[in-house]
Amino acid sequence: MCGIIGRVGEGNALETLITGLENLEYRGYDSAGVAVKNGTGINVEKRSGKVSELKRSITDEPLQGAIGIGHTRWSTHGPPTDENAHPHTDHTEDVAVVHNGIIENYTELKSELAESGHEFSSDTDTEVIPHLIQHHLDCGLDNESAFRRAVDELEGSYAVAAMIADERVLYAARRGSPLVVGMEDDEYFLASDVPAFLEYTDTVVYLEDGDVAIVDETGVEFTDLEGNPVERHPETIEWDPEQAGKGEYEHFMLKEIHEQPTALAQAIEGRIEPELGRIDLTDFEPGTFDDVDCVQFVACGTSYHAALYGSVLLNQAGVRSRALLANEYSISAPPVDENTLVVAVTQSGETADTLSALREASDAGAQTVTVTNVVGSTAAREADETLLIRAGPEIGVAATKTFSSQAVMLVLLGQRIAQDVRGETGADPEALLSDLETMPDRVEEVLATTTAEELAATYEGSRAYFFIGRGLGFPVALEGALKFKEITYEHAEGFASGELKHGPLALVTPDTPVFAVFTGEEDEKTLKNAAEAQTRGAPVIAICPPDHQAALVADAHLEIPDVDSDLAGLLANVQLQLLAYYAADRLDRAIDKPRNLAKSVTVE
Ligand code: M6R
Repeated sequence: MCGIIGRVGEGNALETLITGLENLEYRGYDSAGVAVKNGTGINVEKRSGKVSELKRSITDEPLQGAIGIGHTRWSTHGPPTDENAHPHTDHTEDVAVVHNGIIENYTELKSELAESGHEFSSDTDTEVIPHLIQHHLDCGLDNESAFRRAVDELEGSYAVAAMIADERVLYAARRGSPLVVGMEDDEYFLASDVPAFLEYTDTVVYLEDGDVAIVDETGVEFTDLEGNPVERHPETIEWDPEQAGKGEYEHFMLKEIHEQPTALAQAIEGRIEPELGRIDLTDFEPGTFDDVDCVQFVACGTSYHAALYGSVLLNQAGVRSRALLANEYSISAPPVDENTLVVAVTQSGETADTLSALREASDAGAQTVTVTNVVGSTAAREADETLLIRAGPEIGVAATKTFSSQAVMLVLLGQRIAQDVRGETGADPEALLSDLETMPDRVEEVLATTTAEELAATYEGSRAYFFIGRGLGFPVALEGALKFKEITYEHAEGFASGELKHGPLALVTPDTPVFAVFTGEEDEKTLKNAAEAQTRGAPVIAICPPDHQAALVADAHLEIPDVDSDLAGLLANVQLQLLAYYAADRLDRAIDKPRNLAKSVTVE
């Protein structure tokens, strides 16, 4: 949930650390700090607030040194104060540590250390780590052994990077939280995620759980916690550094909304042959899912909405399927066995709730697949198979292009599963795949002609915003509401259209616009539900093709091209993304880093 950066090489580390933190700020942005080793010791500068505030505070007195660590925080233990910001040091200030995750036994460790004279200055769980390292140094262990011993005593999840004043070495370890090493000639990096150092190198090694990395300017050594060497192979990241920048756009979110045509083209490239009605998912040859008798999707947030989309499609194709909130999975999951396929849908591949559901399903004997955007992510490594959505880096905390790419990949995966399980897909594959091939152009059309900005102005200041849809329109309505609330901070809710009359209608007034998504599935019923809201005075905004009946009766409409009903919702979703974006922009919200949120939620 936080961002870690570390750098060792020639010259000054500070600039690289700050750039790394700026690139990682989507992971947390309530405090930030850096520690740099100079000739005599370790200098730390840390602040509550964003990286920009940290940057301002260090311009007068730059921290000099070739090796350093940095951190941008999303608070778990202790409020976002200067004291609680990372890096944390021990009382001698000879050990500095940054950490992502939760140390579950920190209270016990803290009281043991306090009894032996260690004084603490923050409320964080992290602060026990530098003290523990120092304690083992005091007991006579060398730096490397002291680090290992300390890490071995931690319970919970962590990605940790540490620096000790008397040597030019970074120590790192991971269990349950992501950590990646970047390598470039005589410069090495450590980070929670690749965008941190993508402009310097595209050669990376993802640490596995239980790995320790010892990094200096001559290279990296990977071992297990006992110190036995482990072999880890470098991978090349195909993301272009420019993709990770904002370019001409004011916000990452707007840029990423506009990248959807490219993202979708990348997602389907080489994976479909529309003229033959054929899907070529290389890891999922025909017959892969012959023995599957039901599918469970597990995911959170926007990815859950994509999962719901996939599940509706599979059910419509006659395959038993459920989309389950990963954070509820351990309590309410239907039983699984070796004929159950559990599909984890996660952009980052690091969401703790989703990982925990995936592990539980895997332990119970289910077959597992991860649908993700991040090569080498934990979910990708832990599932039996991975399907990459190839959306490119997504920096805005609000997921946009990854939702579209996930949903499209679930259309394809769903077709493959249905073909294997039932011998047919229940759809006309040639028509569907032809429409799919045109999706990048269709999205382009929506982006070029949208009137979402005007509508955002028209309905600004409303008391609440409701989104309704049926079938595949339902997950789109939920996603429209999530996006809207997430970045505008306004009250927004999504409902199944037919559910409106069972309670939510009591909330409907002339001051609550209702955005109705029409996907071509029982649209006449959705139209009736929208009319019920309209009768109570609510303005109804139809998201539908131009000549659709709903466009004639609604108070306003957002136009989408007429496509297969399996795909129409995805175009409607682009309109709702734009609506949320422009509404939030009018309110001058922190669109890319909405309050209290972080891109990747690595705590349960
Ligand atoms: O990385 P994941 O796809 O697993 O993330 C899941 C959710 O945390 C994420 O989709 C979240 O809901 C987004 N901020 C929504 O825009």
